[in-house]
This record gives sequence, structure tokens and C-alpha cells, in this order.
Amino acid sequence: MSDSLEEYLEVACGLTKEVGQIIRNKIWVDKQSIVTKEHKHDFVTETDQEVEKLLITGLSSQFPDHKFIGEETTSSGVKAEFTDDPTWIIDPVDGTLNFVHGYPNVCVSIGLAINKELVVGIIYVPVPDLMFTAIKGKGAFLNDKKIHVSNVKNLTDALLILELSGGAIAERRQTYVDYVSAFLCHVHGIRSAGSAAYNMAMVALGGGDCYFEIGIHCWDMAAGAIIVREAGGVVFDTTGGEFDVMSRRVLCAASEELAKQVVPYIKQTSPARDD
Ligand code: IPD
Repeated sequence: MSDSLEEYLEVACGLTKEVGQIIRNKIWVDKQSIVTKEHKHDFVTETDQEVEKLLITGLSSQFPDHKFIGEETTSSGVKAEFTDDPTWIIDPVDGTLNFVHGYPNVCVSIGLAINKELVVGIIYVPVPDLMFTAIKGKGAFLNDKKIHVSNVKNLTDALLILELSGGAIAERRQTYVDYVSAFLCHVHGIRSAGSAAYNMAMVALGGGDCYFEIGIHCWDMAAGAIIVREAGGVVFDTTGGEFDVMSRRVLCAASEELAKQVVPYIKQTSPARDD
């Protein structure tokens, strides 16, 4: 089994590097062709669609019996089917809003689940060429160098990562304003990268200590969940319960102690599940 996981990772990393070149070539090209999805700040570009197609075509030619859940395929109306079959969960461009603006925190995020368990994760940040990877039980790596979460256990010592997305939706806007005012007097600082996958990679790296978000999708967090865990961190539901990749809720941290201190501040909601 572990040989196969290594082969899956190797093939997926090769394809990810190839599509990363497309993202690098296009990020600062004048105007991306943009379409909006769920709301007026929810974008998709031709590059999202092109990259997803290349990844799915490349992976399915090597692994014809594997299944796929892709952000753009799902947005076009194909229902996500999460079964026990090996399933690649793909966000071709996580941080599309960043991409549209030319802000380089943009990731390709790919998780592989087998029997619904995440076993391989890749987060590739093509502009600075950062390749985060993990295989279940084998640790987490950045460009082949082993990485580990920080040793922060207290909120008062933490660099907290918060997404400030959903600006087009009044209720979400207020929630983020409330979070900033609630946390700012406790933590060392707050950062917001504009990509869930990037945020999770930062927790895995020890660059940030805790990140949570409600309303993101399985493709935003599948790869990050295994990478954070393999880097020694914890991944929970935002209530502090068991993480469920289809639930659209994630809380990850350098330690369980830190995660549990953050839970009481989170405004819990239950968006429609991905499956
Ligand atoms: C978005 C990013 C962002 C998060 C949004 C996601 P996308 O993903 O991960 O950080 O706050 O909720 O939709 O659309 O750029 O793939």
C-alpha cells in the first residue's frame, strides 16, 4: 500500500509542477477571463478550468479506476460523489481572488482519499515554488525537507490565521469584523492569505499557529488536513469535534490546547455539506 501511495504522490506532484507553470505564466498577464459563481466575489477563471482539466486527465490516464471531486467540475453542476474508491479532491487554483488580482498566494491543492480517509496531500504554491506534500504516516515536507508545526499552546502566544473572505455577504462580513475585534487583543497577530490551502500549509510549516474557517469546501481543505496532521498538528471540526472533510468546517492548529482555546470564539454555522 505505501509503495502505491508514493507512486500516487510522485505522479500527482509531476502534474502539479506542470500546471504550476501555467499559473506562473498567467498570474500577471493583463486580464484573466473571469466568471462569478455563488456571489459577486466568488470567481472562476479560464485558468481554474484549464488546470483542473489537465490534472484530471493526467491522473485518470495513470489511474483509470480512480474518482475525482474537482472544484470547477462540481461548480458546473456535477454532484460530488465521495465513496470508498480512491478519490482525488482537487482545487486547481485555491485563492482565485488572489489570482485575479495578481496577488501570488495561489495554490494547487490536491488530496487523495481512500476508503474516505485522506492519505496523500499536495499543496503547491507555484509563484515562489513551494511544494508541500504528505503521505499518511510518513510526515510532511516542504520541497523535500521535513516540516513541523510550531510548539505554541496558548492563544496569547499565537499568530492566528483568519480569512477575511465573503465581503459580498453582509452576515459573513460582520462575523469577520467580530473575529478581528475578539482575537486582536489576545494573539500576537492576525494574518489573512486569501487561500485556505495556503493557510493550512502555513500551520503545517509553523509559520502560523492556528486557522479556522466555516463555508470552505472539501477541495480547499483535503490536502491541508493531511499535511497539517503529518506535520504534527491537529485538525478538528470548528466545534472541536472530529474533522469531516465534507462538512465545510475546519479548525487546525499547532496543538490541541490551542485549538480548544479558539473554539469558544467561533460563530458556529452549518453550511450545506459537499456530499
Ligand atoms: C477560496 C479560498 C479562500 C476562502 C474561500 C474559498 P477558491 O477558495 O480558499 O481562502 O476564504 O472561502 O472559496 O474559491 O479561491 O478556490
